[in-house]
Amino acid sequence: MANLFHPSFGSRPERIVGRDDVIAQFLKGLQREPGHRDRATLVLGQRGMGKTALLLQLAEEAKSRGFVPARVTSGEDMLEEIIESIQIGGSEFVSEKPSRVRGFSAGALGFSFGLTFSEEVRANYGFRTKLSLLCDKLAENGRKVLLLVDEVQPNTDAMRALASTYQHLAGEGKEVAIVMAGLPGSLSRVLNDKVLTFLNRARKHDLGPLPASDILAYYDDALSRERRIVAPELLMRATDATRGFPYLLQLVGYYIVELTAAGDTITPDVLEKAITAARLDLAADVFSPTLNALSPRDIEVLRAVAAQKTSPAIVADIIATLGVKNSYFQQYRIRLIDAGVVEAPRDGALSITVPYLAEYLNDERPETVEER
Ligand SMILES: Nc1ncnc2c1ncn2[C@@H]1O[C@H](COP(=O)(O)OP(=O)(O)OP(=O)(O)O)[C@@H](O)[C@H]1O
Ligand SMILES: [Mg+2]
Repeated sequence: MANLFHPSFGSRPERIVGRDDVIAQFLKGLQREPGHRDRATLVLGQRGMGKTALLLQLAEEAKSRGFVPARVTSGEDMLEEIIESIQIGGSEFVSEKPSRVRGFSAGALGFSFGLTFSEEVRANYGFRTKLSLLCDKLAENGRKVLLLVDEVQPNTDAMRALASTYQHLAGEGKEVAIVMAGLPGSLSRVLNDKVLTFLNRARKHDLGPLPASDILAYYDDALSRERRIVAPELLMRATDATRGFPYLLQLVGYYIVELTAAGDTITPDVLEKAITAARLDLAADVFSPTLNALSPRDIEVLRAVAAQKTSPAIVADIIATLGVKNSYFQQYRIRLIDAGVVEAPRDGALSITVPYLAEYLNDERPETVEER
């Protein structure tokens, strides 16, 4: 039997745990009139906090409510990808017959057939006109457009073009909605971009750790569907071990199922083995790539954060540990926040966002990381 748990990045889990409120708010927003602030959603979250999984779920939910979703990863080609994705996803709702769209006559402008643009449009018009034509054509057929942008990068031309197009089309009353997801550092810079300030009015969701009660309920349900017998205190232990981190939820569940057979009663021993295996995978899949993306200096500063006895760490203590000037430290503080590795829960404090990373940095001999 297939394992219900699926620890892999960018995949849609069999069930989205602990995000009911975000999903409900998003769906409510879709019912608002075009241009309403709730039609634009920003999803902020640290690495592995479940942004991509949530976008996949939102796209599915929107689909069953008459939306054609176009999900892209932010980048230079995203505008073309959006157009293509709507053409492909929307084609089943549009007849292939040559047609007329308001303001454009068939054959001359608009579409040659279905959602395929006429030669004239293809050659002479840009993203805004194309998206506008697609919205109109789909609206004729009772469909709306949902744009979903993952891994948002600040200050790129494509991002500005997309956002200003959305704003224009929404202002013209087109049936369009948008969701953008990214690391908090990237999104805060997007919001400070002059061209994109309208996004400040969008509905923002900060994806924190999943509530323990939701994880517990899910483990109880999923493991009994897997026909594993788990005592309540062991369900609690498994839940605690995830620290609310979606990727760990998948990993711990996955190893519990892998290490046992249907009908088995889970022993404390097996559970600890599953947790250890999950933590090893976490180190390989999350810590290593995260640390590899940082400079040796970044890592030195990060180690100083991890070494503090208090949680969150106090900035003055970190600076003392490092023996550096405040201005020097601030530079690295910003770099680490942008990388999504640390966050500032309040002024003068810093904490590491990735679960178990502090322990990992403290346990490990310094050479191991610096050699990378
Ligand atoms: N709400 C959730 N319930 C259950 N599993 C989840 C949930 N959110 C994410 N996951 C699982 O956690 C893992 C990481 O999720 P995801 O890839 O969405 O993270 P992310 O925030 O997009 O990470 P990154 O910043 O690296 O892109 C995946 O295996 C995913 O299936
Ligand atoms: Mg992702």
